[in-house]
Amino acid sequence: MSYYRHHVFFCCNQRAPGERTCCNDKGATRVRDYAKQRVKELGLSGPGQVRINQAGCLDRCEQGPCIVVYPEGVWYTYVDEDDIDEIIERHLQQGEIVERLRIR
Ligand code: FES
Repeated sequence: MSYYRHHVFFCCNQRAPGERTCCNDKGATRVRDYAKQRVKELGLSGPGQVRINQAGCLDRCEQGPCIVVYPEGVWYTYVDEDDIDEIIERHLQQGEIVERLRIR
């Protein structure tokens, strides 16, 4: 059994102006912080449950901002905190993939 039931990586990479697009220009660090806080508030964080981690560039920059959820290896994009609430509720709590936010 995995140490975490779900391990979620948020790309929070920041590039200099004029370089290739990056997730942090689209709010990644703010939304990562929100996800960590919500998971904690809901009592979902810790061993056997959910872990939210920051990642560097995951090389899907143009499709981002992006996250990836393991062990399923499902990739998502998001616009704001509402999208993250939906991923937390449907995927992390109910085990259902949120197709509308999925990156193929
Ligand atoms: S900057 Fe986020 S995937 Fe590259």
